Amino acid sequence: MTTQNITRPARADEEFAQEIRAHHAHMVDELDRLTSALRDSAPEKRQEHHARLAQWFETVLVPHADEEEQTTYRVAGELPDGAPLIEAMVREHVLIKRLVALFGASDGAAAAAYARAAYEAFESHQRKENEIILPLLLAAPQVSLRDALGGGHGHQTGHDHAHHHCYRLRPGSRAP
Ligand SMILES: [Fe+2]
Ligand SMILES: [Fe+2]
Repeated sequence: MTTQNITRPARADEEFAQEIRAHHAHMVDELDRLTSALRDSAPEKRQEHHARLAQWFETVLVPHADEEEQTTYRVAGELPDGAPLIEAMVREHVLIKRLVALFGASDGAAAAAYARAAYEAFESHQRKENEIILPLLLAAPQVSLRDALGGGHGHQTGHDHAHHHCYRLRPGSRAP
């Protein structure tokens, strides 16, 4: 293998990693706004904010987690140092989905509190992906992040969806 062959995919992988980090930052921002809006909502608007957040969990957060388990997590879990780490990360997905389910099954102050708990859990979780999982993948010479993502990286980079879930860019919508 020539130096050129090593350098070129590594650079592409770094770009993929940056896209994933950027998408995480975007998700954190959206989840912060949606959950704060629910918490601070006037009673007559609460149902609307609840529905909007439920839709976001269903169409953005849960598919993101599921896609990771099929792509980056699967590959990282096969690395020598990866297996226990990925096991722990998958358990955090279970925890986050549990908080989402508790949010969905409640209303009023309880729903708002579960929503903010999901936000806090996700914010911490995605930081581990940015700072631990992605560097592990980038440092493994046998791993191609592009191949790991395959065709199914829309929910990890936000690319395939033309930011359809970005409230700020959706025509006719407003930031809650
Ligand atoms: Fe995750
Ligand atoms: Fe993620």
